[in-house]
Amino acid sequence: MLSRNSLPPKMPRAPQIDGFIPAQLRRFTPDAPLMLASGVELVAPTVGYQSWGKLNATGDNAVWVCHALTGTTDVESWWPALFGAGKALDPTRDFIVCANVLGGCYGSAGPHTHGADFPEITISDMVRHQHALALYLGVKKIKLMLGGSMGGFQALEWALQFPGIVQRLALISTSYRQPAQAIALSSLQCAQIERDPKFLNGRYAPENGPIDGLNLARQIGHLSYRCGAELDARFDRAQDESGEFEVNRYLAHQGNKLVRRFDANSYLRLNRAMNAFDACAGRGEPRFALGRLNIPALVVAVDSDWLYPPSEQARLAALLPHAAHISIHSNAGHDGFLLDAALFEPALRALLHGDAHQANMRVAQG
Ligand code: COA
Repeated sequence: MLSRNSLPPKMPRAPQIDGFIPAQLRRFTPDAPLMLASGVELVAPTVGYQSWGKLNATGDNAVWVCHALTGTTDVESWWPALFGAGKALDPTRDFIVCANVLGGCYGSAGPHTHGADFPEITISDMVRHQHALALYLGVKKIKLMLGGSMGGFQALEWALQFPGIVQRLALISTSYRQPAQAIALSSLQCAQIERDPKFLNGRYAPENGPIDGLNLARQIGHLSYRCGAELDARFDRAQDESGEFEVNRYLAHQGNKLVRRFDANSYLRLNRAMNAFDACAGRGEPRFALGRLNIPALVVAVDSDWLYPPSEQARLAALLPHAAHISIHSNAGHDGFLLDAALFEPALRALLHGDAHQANMRVAQG
C-alpha cells in the first residue's frame, strides 16, 4: 500500500537564492500528482524550466539538457561552448529544454519552496517530473538527451524509462551508478551540513541556515571537481601574507560563493538522490539492463576526472550496444565537462547527424 501525502505548506524562501533563478525561467505546475519511488505522492509539484527555439509541428526536434548538482536551467550560460547557431545545441534548428531538477532550488518544487518535510527524492522521480513537462510542451520525441555528472544520471534514466521518446543519448563525465568513492565524498559533504548547529534537522530559517556546513561541503565537493596537477600548477605552496595557503583561499572562495546561491536542504536531497542512483537496480544485470538501449549514444570521458574517472565511462560505453566513446584532455578534472566542452562539441554534433563514431576518430586523432 502506498501512502498518500501532499506537499507541506509553502514556506518563505531565502531571497538571495531566488536572486540566482534565471530571469527567463518559466514554471509549469502539473494537475496530476507525481508518485515518488518512495510511495509518497506529490501534489502539483512545479517544474521550473527554460527553453530556446521552437518545437516543430511533429514535436520531434527537442534537445533535452539535464543539469548537474548545483546547476541552473540556463544552459546557455554554463555550456556556452555547446550552445548557439551551428553548434550541437542550436536553437535556430531545435527546441532546447532544460528543467530544474525536482528537489532543486532554482524554480522547481523542493525543500527550498516547501520546507524540511519535502520528501527524499530519486533520480527516477526527477525524470518523471520532467516527463510531465515534456508532455505539457507537446514533445513527442527527444532527438538528443544529454547531461554531465548528475545530468548524465538523469539522461540515462530518461532513456531507460522512456525508450520510445529518447532517440539519442549523450552521457558526459558520468556513470550508470554512483561509484563508491563518490558516495563517500558526498556523504562527507552531507555530514558537514547536518553537523552544523544551525541545521536544526532541516528546520532552519531561510535567512539563518547552516552556511558553515554548506560552505565546507562545497569545498569538499569543489576539490573533487578539480584535480591535483591543476591545483599544483595554479597554487603550488603559495601563501598569502597571513600564511594561509592560496589553495585554501581558493576553496573558501568557492564555498562562500555557493552558500549565497544554494539551499542546504536541496543540497542534501540531491546528494542523497545521487548516492542512491543505480540505473540497473531492479532492471537486471548491467549488461541486460543497459543492453536494451538500442539507440545511438555517445559517452564522453575527461582524462583528469577522478570523481567520475574514465574507467566509469569505459564500462558504461561497453554496456551500451551503440555507444561511441571518446576521451578529451583537460587539466580541470571533473569540471572539464564544463570548461573544455568545446573538445566534445563536434562529437555531439556528429551524434545528432548519425555519425558519432566518425567524431570519435577525429577527437582521438586530435
Ligand atoms: N584565493 C581566492 N579566490 C581565488 C583564488 C585564490 N588564490 N584564485 C582564484 N580565485 C577565485 C577567482 O577570483 C574567481 O572568483 P569569481 O568566480 O568570484 O570571479 C574564482 O576563484 C575562479 O574559479 P575557478 O574555479 O578558477 O574558475 P574556472 O573558470 O576554472 O571554473 C567553474 C569555473 C564555474 C566551472 C568553477 O568555478 C565551478 O564552480 N566549478 C563547480 C561546478 C559544479 O558545480 N560542478 C558540479 C559538478 S557535479
